[in-house]
Amino acid sequence: MQKMTNISSVQEYLLSEKRQGKKIGFVPTMGFLHEGHLTLAEAARKENDIVVMSIFVNPLQFGPNEDFESYPRNPERDAALAASAGVDILFFPEADEMYSGSSIKMHVTERTDVLCGSRRTGHFDGVVTVVSKLFNIIGPDNAYFGLKDAQQVAVIEGLVHDLNFPVNIVRVPTVREEDGLAKSSRNVYLSETERAEAPVLYSSLKDAESLIEEGKSIPQTIISHIQNRINSETSGTVDYIEIYSFPELEDIHSLQGEFIIALAVKFQKARLIDNIIIKKSQEEKQNV
Ligand code: PAF
Repeated sequence: MQKMTNISSVQEYLLSEKRQGKKIGFVPTMGFLHEGHLTLAEAARKENDIVVMSIFVNPLQFGPNEDFESYPRNPERDAALAASAGVDILFFPEADEMYSGSSIKMHVTERTDVLCGSRRTGHFDGVVTVVSKLFNIIGPDNAYFGLKDAQQVAVIEGLVHDLNFPVNIVRVPTVREEDGLAKSSRNVYLSETERAEAPVLYSSLKDAESLIEEGKSIPQTIISHIQNRINSETSGTVDYIEIYSFPELEDIHSLQGEFIIALAVKFQKARLIDNIIIKKSQEEKQNV
């Protein structure tokens, strides 16, 4: 694995590989790698000739009261894990390399006024800015994003559509601990008690899926069920539990077609998110 910190070096190298017909798979990350990231890299390894991973804690996507400074970082461990997952090029730029002299600000107008987007003003503006830059630097054929952050996937798909990036976005299912908790860099902030409670988030989403399979079709019924379980079985505070069409993230009044049930729960030092995406055909029998 080669580690590169300089934009023009990585750009030149990958351009020449592309000219030789090599297919490039790209995994953007903010580091502190866990199995979720490694699964993205392994998926990229199977489908491409060259796998590039970026590690860049992007200041633009953190709000003033968020955890940019304290966001966990461990570059040496990350490099070893990336190499073990089959990454060929680790792109590890400094903030100055990415942003010095910038004069353009990007702003996302769709898919961001709900879920985390509505609580983290400017977050997705920062995400699309860095992802656009990274796509231009790396020039990937395929880019891999985890569905744990499903709103990010929806926004990136919108970005690729609107700006005509010649990149195929690969949606990769959420990687979970054995007890169902979605893997996240922020899980390290949970206390022992909170860690024991946290699997309720996913299990309440699975309950919701069963209720929908049984024919429940009113979003509020499902939301109330999830809310009751989280309130009674965890010490966390629900930030949101919401249901929208996916990937458009528009309101729906009946659970039909492809939709997402997403939640965010605040614990003492960590805010956890999780979701499930369900596809339901019109014909399936309904009862409310
Ligand atoms: O999902 C992340 O880790 C980040 O939002 C991303 C896509 C690497 C952009 O900084």
